[in-house]
Amino acid sequence: LDSLAALDAVVPQPNRQQRTDRAPQSAPGLFRNADDSDSALPNIRAWGREILERVPGSELGSELVAGSAHTSPEAVEALVSTALAAQPDWAGLGGSGRAQLLRKAAVELAANRGALIEVAASETGKTLAEGDVEISEAIDFANYYALGAENLDAVQGARFVPSKLTVVTPPWNFPIAITAGSILAPLAAGSSVIVKPAPQAKRCAAQVVQSLWDAGIPKEVLIFADLEEGPIGQSLIAHAAVDRVILTGAYETAKLFRSWRKDLPLLAETSGKNAIIVTPSADPDIAAKDVVRSAFGHAGQKCSAASLVILVGSVADSARFRNQLIDAAASLKVGFPDDPETEMGPIIEPASGKLKSALTTLGDGESWLVEPRQLDQEGRLFSPGVRSGVRPNSYYHLTEFFGPVLGIMTAKTLDEAIELQNASAYGLTAGLHTMDAAELSLWLSKVQAGNLYVNRGITGAIVQRQPFGGWKRSSVGAGAKAGGPNYLLHLGGWEPAALPE
Ligand code: SER
Repeated sequence: LDSLAALDAVVPQPNRQQRTDRAPQSAPGLFRNADDSDSALPNIRAWGREILERVPGSELGSELVAGSAHTSPEAVEALVSTALAAQPDWAGLGGSGRAQLLRKAAVELAANRGALIEVAASETGKTLAEGDVEISEAIDFANYYALGAENLDAVQGARFVPSKLTVVTPPWNFPIAITAGSILAPLAAGSSVIVKPAPQAKRCAAQVVQSLWDAGIPKEVLIFADLEEGPIGQSLIAHAAVDRVILTGAYETAKLFRSWRKDLPLLAETSGKNAIIVTPSADPDIAAKDVVRSAFGHAGQKCSAASLVILVGSVADSARFRNQLIDAAASLKVGFPDDPETEMGPIIEPASGKLKSALTTLGDGESWLVEPRQLDQEGRLFSPGVRSGVRPNSYYHLTEFFGPVLGIMTAKTLDEAIELQNASAYGLTAGLHTMDAAELSLWLSKVQAGNLYVNRGITGAIVQRQPFGGWKRSSVGAGAKAGGPNYLLHLGGWEPAALPE
């Protein structure tokens, strides 16, 4: 875990982000919890209506971009040589030169807030409020990694030698924040970057890249490579000249990348199967709210999402917590983001495979506490589902579904609950709701996850304050935490500085 106190001591605090566009000024503080959009909601909704009025024919909610620009092996070679040729000058700007451009990037991202929210809504179905906090996080990444770039320069007696070429493969589910963060870190370190966008979120990635180009980051240093899936994409990712690949995606994707090139220098944050434990000492109202928000934010399509809640002792036996869950889940307003009142949006594509079965099938001994309903023809819009009676080591205990479905498990003791929480092969986020210090200590000594949250939801990491990264199968390759003090150090190495003449 990153220590906040130690961090504050060594890293100067960046300026809190200033919004420069006409977006609502609801939560001016930087390093906002990406879930913490309540105070902003009324303003954002009003503003959302304005956006919709200003954009005639805007088809928020369903649009996908087709077509691929670079489709030949020669094109990939050309992109790689261009990026490599541009890198020495980029590194030569020094940490402070690059930091200046990253800070300009923060300003550009803020200025494009409206357009970025809109493209995230139209392409991936993000609600306007969820899009809004993503832009804030992207801005935070830019300012934070700018400081990191300056800090690299400040080390005495050693010189940081960056990776020359980083390939970034961002996810579709945080199409602005993680895309921006994964690009800005290697740029801050002094590497050239080729971004291969997620097929479901190409326009989002393009819009982020455009903002960075507009800030003055050269197009040869930051290349947008809309590559065909399959052998062409593979030829970039596995290219011998690539000395870092930053992936956010499924564990299976990381394995696939590794199968293409055994020594692939991966920095990957991968899947999760995350649980929140609620003990009898917890405040049940707060716990229910946090569980619902963590389970159903972005329709459960976060690797950090709560997929399970584990009720301990009397919480499991009484009806109170379950009733709270039923009320909180059932009261979520489900819809497409073209309705600014929408609290839970659609899933990225019509439900199929294991998500479809998780939304329609029960395992042994299970029952629906809240049965999910399909609300559209296509199969993208579901109301939240809560299944009760999930058994230890069952399919529903251990499988990640990436959608709006939560399972309830029960345990007699906190020890037993922690065992259930740790049973997953993944270890991304984990939560505990308790008011008891002894319970907290016990949990901290045993829980296995990269990101721990107490009396709070388990999604919405915060740049600098709560850096984000996984443990066990939630992380492949270098285990650095995005938005934390060590991340840039994984994007290069040190050599002794030349002695003064
Ligand atoms: N950073 C996101 C969160 O914390 C997940 O990738 O929810």
